[in-house]
Amino acid sequence: MAVRITVVGSLNMDMVVRVPRLPRPGETVIGSDFRTIPGGKGANQAVAAARLGAQTSMVGRVGRDDFGRLLLDNLAAAQVDHRFVRQDPGAPTGVAFIEVDDAGKNSIVVASGANARLTPADVDIAAATITAASALLLQLEIPLETVARAAAVAHAAGVKVILNPAPARPLPAELLALVDVLVPNESETEILTGLPVGSQAEAERAALTLLEAGVGAVVLTLGERGALLAQDGRTQTFPAFEVKPADVTAAGDAFLAGFAVALAEGKPLAEAVRWGNAAGALATTKLGAQPSLPTRQEVERLLAEGVTRPVPTGKG
Ligand code: RIB
Repeated sequence: MAVRITVVGSLNMDMVVRVPRLPRPGETVIGSDFRTIPGGKGANQAVAAARLGAQTSMVGRVGRDDFGRLLLDNLAAAQVDHRFVRQDPGAPTGVAFIEVDDAGKNSIVVASGANARLTPADVDIAAATITAASALLLQLEIPLETVARAAAVAHAAGVKVILNPAPARPLPAELLALVDVLVPNESETEILTGLPVGSQAEAERAALTLLEAGVGAVVLTLGERGALLAQDGRTQTFPAFEVKPADVTAAGDAFLAGFAVALAEGKPLAEAVRWGNAAGALATTKLGAQPSLPTRQEVERLLAEGVTRPVPTGKG
């Protein structure tokens, strides 16, 4: 039977444009291939979990507008339960402005709109859906008090709480104490710890610092350097899969979903990190957020047949 995952988080319509390189402040560059693509870290993680075979529910807010309707239709097409995504007449649907360069790297600006109006009361209305799940996925594109309420509801029911601290902001100790697994990327780790993560040794030190903040485990996603698991005072590195990147947008979201689905299915943490690595790598091979999220079959094939990059050394 399919495992159940609930996501409390954001939904955005992404305005995506390709650029030869990301502009510097004050600079204009000519882009091409403008597209509107369903996104938002919460919705991306929900759609990704559903594609990987989980019975997935989403809690969030969109505006009562065309983008909001399109995002809801997209969730329905992906078989994500969206009964708890409210259409809010008081704010527009969230949008994200995304530039993707020739190397597949991006920069993102989000205008939160209705996402900023998701309240702890919205979480309470969806409490039964949260407590019926095996895992709860959270990010930081909604108010922190709402994230904290969702984590508290899940934690009290023994549901695994997985927090993707994106975009990064300081996190209260009371929230971290409710988190089973914290999954930041490199820049989020630097913001949360004030430590660099450029070398393997630095990444290990930063991951252990986050672990000491009170979460159950830390999974630091390092892009082409793979992922680092910190648990019980020790770290373990997992190599990235070798793929040809076209756009890194939503790679982190795919990682979170792959990791969460595997964990909810009872796989050990280390195996769940491999699932995250495979799902994240596949998401980089296509343009856009939700169209790039892989199926379970694609992830299983990469896990079985994929080539991994060399594991970084502990030095440097
Ligand atoms: O993680 C990628 C997502 O970040 C995009 O889809 C965009 O909407 C922003 O939320």
